Amino acid sequence: MRNRGFLTPVTENFLHAYGVGKVAFELALKSNVDPETAFIAGSLHDLGGAIPDSDRVEVAESLGIELFEEERKVPMLVHAKQGDYFAQALFGIENTDVLDSILYHTTCIDNASTLVKIIFLADKIQWDRNGEPPYLKDLLKALDNSLDEGCRYFLEWLWNSQLYVIHPFLVRSYGYYSKGQEFPSSTRKTRNVYLSEDIKRKYFLNEIVYEFKKAFEMGKKASEPFIKGSESFNKAFIAGALANSVNTIFQNQRLYVANKVGIETKHETNESLLPKLSHYFAKNEFGIDDSELLQAILYHQQESDCESKICHSVKAAYQTLYKEEAK
Ligand SMILES: [Fe+2]
Ligand SMILES: [Fe+2]
Repeated sequence: MRNRGFLTPVTENFLHAYGVGKVAFELALKSNVDPETAFIAGSLHDLGGAIPDSDRVEVAESLGIELFEEERKVPMLVHAKQGDYFAQALFGIENTDVLDSILYHTTCIDNASTLVKIIFLADKIQWDRNGEPPYLKDLLKALDNSLDEGCRYFLEWLWNSQLYVIHPFLVRSYGYYSKGQEFPSSTRKTRNVYLSEDIKRKYFLNEIVYEFKKAFEMGKKASEPFIKGSESFNKAFIAGALANSVNTIFQNQRLYVANKVGIETKHETNESLLPKLSHYFAKNEFGIDDSELLQAILYHQQESDCESKICHSVKAAYQTLYKEEAK
């Protein structure tokens, strides 16, 4: 059973984010959606989580984000709207499908696009708590039929759980997927987004952007030598993107975490532990069992040559992106 209570909340959040990105990547491959776009959308879905509950309503109001009464009652629900805003303001994302997938990741929405359904379900499959989600087996079974069936199953599960408030988006998505109801379509308004340096500093938004951009760039660079859509391309993208997924475990915590997860630390340094930790979480958090992909994550920082083309490519990407920066 997955347990990561010994990690800092920041590392846990990144693991959840990349985990959703990875599941979204896989669902996209089966659904004719660009997997890289799905990985980015999945990774960024909880961006709004950077704002603590206590500040959510105030920050949203200062940014001109309109709130429902239900969101004022349960400020956690605001994070989806904030994530949509941050994806625009911090990453310059203009693709409305990606922005919608962040906006609707908690509740889904009626008549959702394929990407919106993928991010909604990936977030539930790779949930952010310890242990296995109680609905997981049945959700995966429903998903075997179709994304719509997966949405219907989970929305019914959610609707029948003890909800303190019912979000207006959930009324629409449940009505649509479970009851076949139709709703008047809502269109996204164009808006100007702006985040002050104060807000960025206060909530460590620059650091968050830095980490995610690195992962996206590593995935892109590592997959470049391969034919887009090929198995090697997909493996190299995921290996590159997840090669440094636990970068946020600080130097002085690495030994502690390594001991917790049973990695032999006798001959290790703080530097040598990082790829080992990334390898551990790739296997145990993201469920990766492909040996070529795991090797690429494990050896991408080593001087010695690696055997597979994928490993070589992830290594080259790391050398170009990280080593350049260190100079
Ligand atoms: Fe969320
Ligand atoms: Fe999430």
